[in-house]
Order: sequence, then structure tokens, then C-alpha cells
Amino acid sequence: MKVFINKIIPEIGFKLLEEAGIEFTVWKEKPILDRGQAIQFCKGHDAFLSVGQAGLDADFFKECNHLKVVALHSVGFDGVDIKAATANGIPIGNTPNVLNKATAETALLLMLTVARRALFLHKKIKKGQWGASQPTQDLGFDLAGKTLGIVGLGRIGTELAKICSQSWGMKILYHNRGVNAQAEQELGAKLVSMDELLAKSDVVSVHTALTPETKGMFGMEQFKKMKSSAIFINTARGGVHKEDELIEALKKQVIWGAGLDVTNPEPMSKDNPLLEMDNAVVFPHIGSATKETRDKMSTCAVENIIAGLNGDPLPYPVNP
Ligand code: DGY
Repeated sequence: MKVFINKIIPEIGFKLLEEAGIEFTVWKEKPILDRGQAIQFCKGHDAFLSVGQAGLDADFFKECNHLKVVALHSVGFDGVDIKAATANGIPIGNTPNVLNKATAETALLLMLTVARRALFLHKKIKKGQWGASQPTQDLGFDLAGKTLGIVGLGRIGTELAKICSQSWGMKILYHNRGVNAQAEQELGAKLVSMDELLAKSDVVSVHTALTPETKGMFGMEQFKKMKSSAIFINTARGGVHKEDELIEALKKQVIWGAGLDVTNPEPMSKDNPLLEMDNAVVFPHIGSATKETRDKMSTCAVENIIAGLNGDPLPYPVNP
């Protein structure tokens, strides 16, 4: 049994494969494999451990219908044609839960960085502009006691709600498909309409999956409904916000600031206006990028590979 792995994963993943007696080929070169090359590699292997979701479309699953399992090194699977995988009898696995805390921490880091204008002030020092400051200068705003509006109160959103309500005494509003009874009971979270969430929140943080319903969910219309003092945070998927309209909203100070860990497309071009704006902060999709979390993701992905190759149900399945 042989697995193809399209990027270098944490060492623990390779170790687990060795212990299970599974051979693997790893693509270690800098240029990312194109779709055709990935298909060629997959044809010579029984399973595919994929870092990233590019190219996992209906044609791929048809061409590679011999694969016993495709294990994603991510929780998200919005780029994968799950229906086609299922139709070709290929189980798909992901890495749920293990990245909740790291991603929530990333959202928090963006919230704090934007609220305290940390990146802008850092750049100011670099430009030699740290002069005699006035008490009225360089002010941000407190998060403590403010209202956090969470769009998509699932596993990651709930983790952020916990930190913010328990450590900062923030009030939690949320907009979701259903009620999150536990968050309501334990954190006092309140389910509200999208309009109420936008109108009342000091920070709006997006934690929904990218689906046809959430694609482009945040544009000028939504930014105009937010407080002009509010911050928009997206650590979910770049496709959930309309970038042009966000740029315009920030330029016209329709909202106070934005923090993004996800963009559309990724990677973001170095000429993107958001990178020059004083009220925007962009990270290169590092939500799960901690040593501990990536080790756990690698472990989950390999556990899915081992189960799939043994013909067992995947521990972390995605197919319905
Ligand atoms: C995930 O796991 O889905 C992260 O966003 C990385 O893609």
C-alpha cells in the first residue's frame, strides 16, 4: 500500500505511516504540483494525503477512482467535489476539532491587532515617527465589555466566544442556521438576526464554511449596517467577503477596521491595497499554523489514510 503526499507534513505523520508499514512518496519541491502531475502521482499510489484542496474536482475523482482514500490536511473541504468522490466510491477525510483553539486564537490576534492599531503603530516606528506622543494619540479601543457578533457559531466560533466572554466579559451575539443551546447556557450567547448582529456588534467575526449561501455574504450592504466604530474579522474563507467592497468600506471609514486571515484569491498579491491601509491587517492563512496543531492535523490525516487503506470507516469522515 502506497500513499502520495503532495507537501511536507509534520514528522509525526511520516512516523505513523512508517509504524503502520505504509510506503509513501512526498513531493518536496518548491513549485507546487499542478493538477496533471498530481493525477499522475496518484495513479501510482493507493491513497492521497492532500495538503490543500486544489484540483479535487469531478474529473480528478473519475481519473483516480482507484484511490482507497483521500485524506485532507485541513478541516475545510469547500474546494472538494464530495459528491463526485462519493459517486466514485472514494472516502474523504478531514481534520476536525484539533484546530479550533489555534484558529480562535488567530481571530483574537486579529481583533487585538486591529483594535489597538498594532501593525500601523509598528510601521510608524519603522518610519521614524515615534515622537513625543500626546495622551489623545495612537488610541485604539477596549475589547473588554464590548459585543462580539459571531457569524457561524460552530466549533471554532464557540471557542472564540468562550475566550472572549470568559476572559474579556464580552457579550456574545450569534447568527447561525440553528440554536447553539450549550453556548447560550454556558456563555450567555444570544441568537439574533443578521441585521441585529451587524447593528449591535463592536466586532463581527466570521466562522462559517464557504457554501453557495455564504459566498459573498459580506459586502457594502452589510458593512453599512455595522457600527462605524466596528471591526470585521474573517478567519474562515476569503470568498465569504467581497474584497472590493471591503476595501471601499475601509477607505470611506464605513467601518473602523478589518482583520483577515483568509483572502480570495490566496496567496494575496503584494500590490493589494489592503496591505497599504492603516486600518487593515492581513495574515497569510495561518489559522492552524502552530506546531501543536499541525502535529495533530497530521496525525488525523494519517489516521484517515490508515483506516481507508484497511477498508475501515474513516475516523474523521466527510462524505455523507
Ligand atoms: C482548514 O483546515 O480548513 C484551514 O483553513 C486550512 O485550510
